[in-house]
Amino acid sequence: MKVLVTGGSGFIGAALCRKLVATGYDVRVLDDNSRGTLTRLTDIQDRIEFVEGNVCDAQAVHIATEGCQMVWHLAYINGTRFFYERPDEVLEVGIKGAINTIEAAIAAKVNRYILASTSEVYNTPSEIPTSESERIMIPDVTNPRFSYGGGKIASELLTLHYGGKRGLETVIFRPHNIYGANMGFEHVIPELVAKIVKLSDNFTKKSIDLPIQGNGEETRAFCYIDDAVRGILLCGEKGNSGEIYHLGTQKETSIRELIEQLANILGININIIPGTLRPGGTIRRCPNISKLSQLGYQPQIDLKEGLTHTVSWYVDHFTKNTN
Ligand SMILES: NC(=O)c1ccc[n+]([C@@H]2O[C@H](COP(=O)([O-])OP(=O)(O)OC[C@H]3O[C@@H](n4cnc5c(N)ncnc54)[C@H](O)[C@@H]3O)[C@@H](O)[C@H]2O)c1
Repeated sequence: MKVLVTGGSGFIGAALCRKLVATGYDVRVLDDNSRGTLTRLTDIQDRIEFVEGNVCDAQAVHIATEGCQMVWHLAYINGTRFFYERPDEVLEVGIKGAINTIEAAIAAKVNRYILASTSEVYNTPSEIPTSESERIMIPDVTNPRFSYGGGKIASELLTLHYGGKRGLETVIFRPHNIYGANMGFEHVIPELVAKIVKLSDNFTKKSIDLPIQGNGEETRAFCYIDDAVRGILLCGEKGNSGEIYHLGTQKETSIRELIEQLANILGININIIPGTLRPGGTIRRCPNISKLSQLGYQPQIDLKEGLTHTVSWYVDHFTKNTN
């Protein structure tokens, strides 16, 4: 079966492409490489078709979708910093990208359209662990941060009620803090590793003071990329049409615990210096994953194992780039 993956040279997209190829799918990628890179696809470059293009360009999307039976729409502007700095582009890619990919999927008579949404649609959830029926919201329309969650809320509505109403089978997955090597730099784990490398002078100091945003009691549930792609594949292949599935783990970890694990892996004593959270930041986040578990999903990689692999990639990257 031929499938289109938008955002396929991004962090999750590239891992998904690798999984799809291994499963036997014929994969075409559409990505403008604004955040993606072909180096993520080197090992499968001979087994996929790569199309460089923008999901905001309707014609490019139509051409890329021709002959495909499934569309996995992942292209988006990720990275918290960009939500504040480039909210116009975030919304453009979110909304035009959804409309273009849905219309192209309908025109190409695609069987299934699978959308990557986000846990950010809840802002601050009323319940932890959070189920898919939690209300979604934009708490402050004047805060550019919510361009990201807002763009995804619009994409979900378009998927279900624009694509779904016009005959597309649709499945939405909401990832919660997926991490791994080469995930980009605008996320909590790479940002912490970068600070630790810098403050320790490439590990010459064995004790450091580490200023952080917030007091360290904020939580997230970190899901390793290999588990995530297993879950995404299950959603796409076995998810019921019109349904939304959480993707992640149910192990809630505080930022303080995360830093302790980083300190252990890196052999550094870290004294946390609490700071203020940026407006719009969320205190706790952890998904209830029972809906996806009913399809057979079970995360297998614990934080220590996933973090060790991830940290090693980033240390290598940061030390090479600072020497
Ligand atoms: N990483 C996470 O923890 C996480 C959490 C929640 C949701 N998500 C969602 O999962 C998806 C993949 O995230 P990721 O972490 O791999 O991010 P990423 O930034 O690594 O990948 C996104 C890809 O989209 C591409 N892209 C951006 N704008 C484009 C455009 N206009 N046209 C074509 N391609 C474009 C980028 O070049 C990049 O390769 C995104 O939709 C993201 O919002 C990720």
